[in-house]
Amino acid sequence: MKRIGATDLAVDLGFLKLRNPVLAASGTFGYGLEFKPFVDLDKLGGIIVKGLYFNPRPGNPPPRLAESPSGLINSIGLQGIGVRAFCEKVLPQLQGLQTPVIVNVCGETDEEYAAVIDFLNKNRRIAAYELNISCPNVKEEGRCPALSPEHTFSLVKLAKQSSRRPLIVKLSPNVTDIVSVARAAEEAGADAISLINTLLAMAVDIETRRPRLANTFGGLSGPAVKPIALRMAYQVASRIRIPVIGMGGIMTGQDALEFLIVGARAVEVGTANFVDPGASLRIVKEIQDYCRDKSISRVEDIIGTLMTE
Ligand SMILES: Cc1cc2nc3c(=O)[nH]c(=O)nc-3n(C[C@H](O)[C@H](O)[C@H](O)COP(=O)(O)O)c2cc1C
Repeated sequence: MKRIGATDLAVDLGFLKLRNPVLAASGTFGYGLEFKPFVDLDKLGGIIVKGLYFNPRPGNPPPRLAESPSGLINSIGLQGIGVRAFCEKVLPQLQGLQTPVIVNVCGETDEEYAAVIDFLNKNRRIAAYELNISCPNVKEEGRCPALSPEHTFSLVKLAKQSSRRPLIVKLSPNVTDIVSVARAAEEAGADAISLINTLLAMAVDIETRRPRLANTFGGLSGPAVKPIALRMAYQVASRIRIPVIGMGGIMTGQDALEFLIVGARAVEVGTANFVDPGASLRIVKEIQDYCRDKSISRVEDIIGTLMTE
C-alpha cells in the first residue's frame, strides 16, 4: 500500500521511464563515475555523460572557464576520451547501475555523428542518445547544425537511420525561431527534444584588454540563462508532440518545477553540479517536498499545467 503523502515521482518519456524527472546534464557530470563519492547515482532520473566524438580530443587551450554574475562561460571544446575508451573503460564500471545512462553524441561532420552512433549501438548498457547538434563551435563563432532547420532535419534523419536507440535532440538557444528547429527535428524522427545548450558569450579582462577565454568566445550557462531557457521550453513544448527535456540555470527544485509547469516532461541539471555536487538529488527532494505540501500524488500531474488566462 502506498504511504499517505508519498509522491510518485516517475515520469514517462514514452520511450523511457524515469524514476524521477531529474537528469544530470552532459559535460557537468563527467562520465557519472566522478560523482559516485558524492551522489547515489541510482537515485537520479538519469545520467547524460560528457559529449563523445569518435576519437579522443584534448579540448581547447586554457583559460577555458570564466565566471560572470550568475553564470559560467566555458570553452572546454568537448574534451573527451572517444567512443572506444568509453565503451571499454567507463561503461563496464556503470554496469550495475539501475539509472539510465544516456550518451551525448558529437561530430565534426554529419558522418562522424553517424559513426559514433554506429559504434555505440553495440553496447546494450546505453538507454538513449542525446544528439548534441548545438555545442557552440568556438572556432566558427558558435556555428553548429542546430542553427539551421534544414541542417537539423538532414542530420537528425541520418542519425535516426543509424540509431538502434531513442534519439533525444539537443537544441541551441542561439537562434531567433527555436520552434522551427524543434519542428525540423521532430519531422526527421527525433524521439524527444532537449534544450537549451549554452548561449554564445564572451568576457574581457580590462587590465590586459584581452578576452578572458583563450578562444575569445564561450558558452554561457547557469542562473543567468534560466528565463531564456524557460521561455524556449514553453514555446517548444506547446508546439510539438514529442517530449521536451528542459534545462538552463536550474539550481533548485523551484526552478525545475517551473520547467515542468511550462510543459517539460523532465529536466537536466548542469552548472549547479559545480556549485554543489549533490545538487541533482537535492532538487529531487525539493520537488518531492513541493508535491507533498500541495498534496500532489503524481509529479506527472504538474507537467504542462501553466495557466495563461
Ligand atoms: C563545462 C560545461 C561543459 C559542457 N559540456 C557539454 C557537452 O559535452 N555536451 C552538451 O550537449 N552540453 C554540454 N554543456 C551544456 C550543458 O549540458 C547545459 O546544456 C547548459 O550548461 C545549460 O544548463 P545549466 O545552466 O544547468 O548548466 C556543458 C556545459 C558546461 C558548463
